[in-house]
Amino acid sequence: MCGIVGIISRKPVADRLVDALKRLEYRGYDSAGVATLENGRLTRRRAEGKLSNLATLVGEQQLDGTIGIGHTRWATHGVPSVANAHPHATKRLALVHNGIIENYRELKAELETEGAVFESQTDTEIVAHLVTRELERGLPPKEAVQVVLARLEGAFSLAFLFDGEEELLIGARRGSPLAVGEGEGEMFLGSDGIALSPFTDTVRYLEEGDLAVLEHGRITIFDQHGAEVTRAVKRAGGKAFYVDKGNHRHFMQKEIYEQPEVLSHTLGAFVDMTTGRTRLPKDQAIDFSKVRRIALSACGTGFYAALVGRYYFERYARIPCDLDVASEFRYRESPLADVDLALFVSQSGETADTLASLRYAKGEGLATAAIVNVEESTIAREADHVFPTLAGPEIGVASTKAFTCQLMALAALAIKAGVDRGVILPEREIEFTRILAEAPRLANEAIRLEGAIEALSRKMATKKHALFLGRGFSYPLALEGALKLKEISYIHAEGYAAGELKHGPIALIDETMPVVVIAPHDRSFEKTASNVQEVAARGGEIVLFTDAKGAASGIVDGAELIVLPDMPEILTPIVYAIPLQLLAYHTAIQMGTDVDQPRNLAKSVTVE
Ligand code: F6R
Repeated sequence: MCGIVGIISRKPVADRLVDALKRLEYRGYDSAGVATLENGRLTRRRAEGKLSNLATLVGEQQLDGTIGIGHTRWATHGVPSVANAHPHATKRLALVHNGIIENYRELKAELETEGAVFESQTDTEIVAHLVTRELERGLPPKEAVQVVLARLEGAFSLAFLFDGEEELLIGARRGSPLAVGEGEGEMFLGSDGIALSPFTDTVRYLEEGDLAVLEHGRITIFDQHGAEVTRAVKRAGGKAFYVDKGNHRHFMQKEIYEQPEVLSHTLGAFVDMTTGRTRLPKDQAIDFSKVRRIALSACGTGFYAALVGRYYFERYARIPCDLDVASEFRYRESPLADVDLALFVSQSGETADTLASLRYAKGEGLATAAIVNVEESTIAREADHVFPTLAGPEIGVASTKAFTCQLMALAALAIKAGVDRGVILPEREIEFTRILAEAPRLANEAIRLEGAIEALSRKMATKKHALFLGRGFSYPLALEGALKLKEISYIHAEGYAAGELKHGPIALIDETMPVVVIAPHDRSFEKTASNVQEVAARGGEIVLFTDAKGAASGIVDGAELIVLPDMPEILTPIVYAIPLQLLAYHTAIQMGTDVDQPRNLAKSVTVE
């Protein structure tokens, strides 16, 4: 994780470094820091905690340097503290780092035998010492960095600033993303294009093993073999979306409210709305009639989307699916027999476990596809086929609109797959796409339940634990509802398949345990109703998310009801996700937690 940035200019850079870090704070917020050259000498400002602490410090102790680097940290090695905050420095250089140096212990031991003394507990500081050693042996900066890079193991991106070198920044990438941008007489580097978007829209993404030398007026990129290369220019974009919460109190609330619109954008990428026929987004071609089995893999909320995807592909396209959390997929050594497509789901497109799984699948000779929200991301660039979710930048750490757009993409792909395989006839295809086109309207209706859900959240905020239950399409939602609640309100919550309750978790039920049941009146309803009775008989407090028919069935007297509109089954995961997001959101507000930046988390998880 962590976000890095660098600027070489003729004007002071400190404020702009902090500004760029604001757009990278989604990557981590344990500490932040900048380093500039003041009259040629390295000078640092570092602060523990949120970026606002660094902004205050830089306001109080101003920096005038016209070249600098900055960092926002998600702690891996070493507690959040000023000493562990980047940039790390020696007398010769300062550097910022995203990722992990896996062989740092052995390198540290080697440096210690030569008398090196470390100020921090980080893996990063070792790199500062190694490059310093090469500089002192007489190597110029670029060569010194190259020699050291060859000794590092792990996945990382790095940016270096050298004492006395007003004309030079060096960036390097292996595993973690790094972009470079050209402005007028100014050069930039950053963990993504959005960080650089107010400064330049001419951005290049470095490829694996690339090293970039930034000087006034030019950027030179070298590949992993040291040969000079060019990398394609991309437009950075995303600026207007990024910084603005509009009238909302939090990005998360804004992103929940954006769902009707972005669902409609995403649907448009997969369906020709004039004919009602499904299609694959531009330049993608998969013939699902030749796909015998799909291996799905993702992390966190993306994994729950993939779980819904499995239900969709199996039910509507009759394609069997395997499903793994990405951190297990590549280590499970599954024989992958009959698998013709590996499909990955990721909002950021940078999640290290998902990326590693994608590379594993490619190594096994599988065709790969990715449903991703960030089109310039590494996963999007490395997958054979890319299916974009058009959710727009998602800033709140808890995923909301990206999740429902992933479900929309998966539903449309499953229908397309059913058509390719001849199990969905053209008339049925048109019927399905008409149903999917109802999602934005229904999402709007779900958002209108906010008042009722806010009232419910007041009770939820008094609880220490909660269970979420669902069956069929609602089972992944139970998992997602529990994840959303725990990650932003810190209330312990677990999601279960409703039928599993009696195999253990029912022991937890007493009159203090709220049980949130997701049960539209679908083919699983009666079975779920029986499970709800089992909870009620043991005094559990039931909150039922259902539709008018489900509410009228009177499953349990005294159950708290949230009544959603009626809808076809394929839409229930998309629409029912919204009140669950709102429940987590309002409970977190009641608890007074940091909704957009919950403790210990980061938006982009680029470490394994
Ligand atoms: C939860 C959440 C995380 C992410 C997970 C994967 O709200 O956002 O669980 O879903 O870290 O991230 P992506 O989708 O970027 O691969």
